[in-house]
Amino acid sequence: MFVSVKEKVLKILMESKSAVSGELLAKDCGVSRNAVWKAVNSLKAEGYDISGVNKSGYVLKHGDVLSSDELKCLLGDRLVEVYDTIGSTNTRAKELAAKGAESGSIVISDEQTVGRGRFDRRFESKRGNGLYISIILRPDIPASESMRITAYAAVAAARAIESFGVEGVKIKWVNDLYLGGKKICGILTEGSWDIESGRLEYAVVGIGINLGDAEFSGELSGKASSVYSQTGIKIPRCALAARVVRNLENASAEYMEEYRSRSCVIGKKVRVNNGNDSFEAIIDDIDENGFLIAKKGEDLITVNAGEVVMK
Ligand code: BTN
Repeated sequence: MFVSVKEKVLKILMESKSAVSGELLAKDCGVSRNAVWKAVNSLKAEGYDISGVNKSGYVLKHGDVLSSDELKCLLGDRLVEVYDTIGSTNTRAKELAAKGAESGSIVISDEQTVGRGRFDRRFESKRGNGLYISIILRPDIPASESMRITAYAAVAAARAIESFGVEGVKIKWVNDLYLGGKKICGILTEGSWDIESGRLEYAVVGIGINLGDAEFSGELSGKASSVYSQTGIKIPRCALAARVVRNLENASAEYMEEYRSRSCVIGKKVRVNNGNDSFEAIIDDIDENGFLIAKKGEDLITVNAGEVVMK
């Protein structure tokens, strides 16, 4: 596996609590001090705040830079595309997946100009204001089980957010994350399956987490919010992205239990919009596939697509 000098230097500085001398960096990376100096300058040009301390070496001040070097340091070598701006990370990830990109490949952007949500809605994706990430997965499962991926992604994102000291992240079926009664994260899972085998070829899990302090306008004001607005906690995006991806890659059936326990719809009276149908129901449960079990009058109805509106 090829690891660039820049990645090695970044990893050492990220893991060190004190200044690291150019000499030590050069020795640990197996390169000259001049090569270290070039790598440090290149990291600075990417936005990393690296300073020299009393000639004792380099110190990295932890900031919020989106960089493929940092993501690779945190997640290991894989395809990572980082954009300053892009239409939609999901659209790009689908292109990569169709060309054969491996499971675990990532597309991430500082802003999206046409961030996409479910049901052809727009997902507001202002520059520097959130984590906008798409992850390619290739699980060997029947297409009929693909809703589990969405449910697992919601748990993966909720756990990752809470690992930074945030408490009380809830999930609204299928995969909106709520904090303090407001939506802070949306997930759009897209995919392709093989018609003959009925199995999933790939899934692209697109996750948008509102992190900054930008206001939401129009229809979203009052409904959407961000982690920072709700808690005052600032979460660095690379570290968050890495935890979301790790959680998702390690997801297993036990996530479904957590999905249920985080659910803010079980036991609640809601309106279910299920394709052409729309009805009022009390949500009884969520099954192993992530399907909703809705009680409509005396009938229990299994809902495998659509959305719920809280009453
Ligand atoms: C929703 O709330 O309806 C889902 C929103 C999903 C937004 C994410 S941001 C990263 C990825 N790229 C997109 O265009 N959409 C998803």
